[in-house]
Amino acid sequence: MTSEDSLPIIEPFRIKSVEPLRVSTRAERCAWLDAAHGNLFALRSEQVMIDLLTDSGTGAMSSDQWAALMRGDESYAGSPSFFRFERAVREVFGFEHVVPTHQGRAAEHFLFEALVHPGDVVPNNTHFDTTRANVVACGGEPLDLPCPQLADTASREPFKGDIDLEVLERVLTGPRRVPLAMITLTNNAGGGQPASLGNVRAMSELCRRHGVPLFVDACRFAENAWLMRERDPELAGVDVGELVRRTFALADGCTMSAKKDGLANIGGFLGMRDPKLAETVRRAMVVTEGFPTYGGLSGRDLEAVAQGLREVLQEDYLEYRHASVAYVARRLAERGVPVVEPPGGHAIFLDAARFLPHVPRAEYPGQAVASELYLEGGVRACEIGSVMLGAVDAATGAETPAAQELVRLAVPRRTYTQSHMDYVIEVVARVHARRERIGGVRIVESPPVLRHFGAKFRRVRRRGEARVS
Ligand code: F0G
Repeated sequence: MTSEDSLPIIEPFRIKSVEPLRVSTRAERCAWLDAAHGNLFALRSEQVMIDLLTDSGTGAMSSDQWAALMRGDESYAGSPSFFRFERAVREVFGFEHVVPTHQGRAAEHFLFEALVHPGDVVPNNTHFDTTRANVVACGGEPLDLPCPQLADTASREPFKGDIDLEVLERVLTGPRRVPLAMITLTNNAGGGQPASLGNVRAMSELCRRHGVPLFVDACRFAENAWLMRERDPELAGVDVGELVRRTFALADGCTMSAKKDGLANIGGFLGMRDPKLAETVRRAMVVTEGFPTYGGLSGRDLEAVAQGLREVLQEDYLEYRHASVAYVARRLAERGVPVVEPPGGHAIFLDAARFLPHVPRAEYPGQAVASELYLEGGVRACEIGSVMLGAVDAATGAETPAAQELVRLAVPRRTYTQSHMDYVIEVVARVHARRERIGGVRIVESPPVLRHFGAKFRRVRRRGEARVS
């Protein structure tokens, strides 16, 4: 990693408190994965060496955030911590009405509950799994409209997170009611790819013309803004915070998981311009989430998020963050591993369909790669392919595979060092070197919704593959 003036880019922090990692043996990992029925979500985290399952809630807080915790005021109503939180959200995003929630999916739930009715459709570049499930829970149909370039994981188009505007226009002029449109920044399920400012602007104009509110899924807003500037020559020199304001000025609101670019371990919010919608949400949330000035969070959580939202926009942090993700992706590509290009904001995505071309989609190549990474070196990754996003017909059980078979190595923020990342590169390269002997997996049991969390798997052995358990 090197910066513009050719000095190496380093982690722009030093370590004040450490958390031990337990180094395991291959035999232990085999036994643990068997006991977890092949589901990496069912492992205990002590059984994992490098945990890249998610970048959500797993980052390290700064000393300023830990200090802010002490300022947390735990009053039930009207806590000053809420007003500091509200001010931070208003300053960063520009939304007048701010409703805290315990995490992003609660914000989705209250937004859709207020707006979505049975039979409605909700377009998005790609819905994340909880977003999809929350639309469905209200009787709506989530529509994924990624731009066509996203399908080619090898193409280096800069803005593969864009929404397909032509298809969006057809949906907006079509027969079905569209209560809101969304765009996910960055497009997590689609490889962590950013959307361009031009695309968000065009989407905003289209939505306004059709009287449909536009909400941004803002989880990785700072990473998207950084990549917007990196990849769009017209934005050179624009301050990242200013880019965030320009982007969100185009929207009517946002849902946010502060567990990502809020740099916090828990938290989220709904930001809105419409006072009536805000009132509806505030009334609904008291029943299950909490009073609107804490929304399922403690005062200290609100303080940590308020501080995190400002820290995440620091340029040296964002430069290091993207350099570390790009470093892993580049090294893997050099060793012939099929990675999604160009590297996105928060994760390195492996293209499992190209990694294991001999494994049929019905045998979940992404799940097979993720299992092998764990067995090889205790690295826990997450399948984002047909296990997570494949469509299962409730009546017949027939499956339509997901658009892509990806494995996500999500990098927790400010948590692992470059030597950890070098270890990950080595583990992935070793699995890739023996890919021809790796077979797929079958699902032997699965819950009806969000099945990746609870499914049980059985490995399909290839001829010549060593028995590992
Ligand atoms: N939207 C996106 C794009 C997400 O990535 C997530 C969570 C959510 C919404 C929901 O937020 O977890 O705070 O309720 N993504 C995590 C992940 C879980 O691993 O990507 P939440």
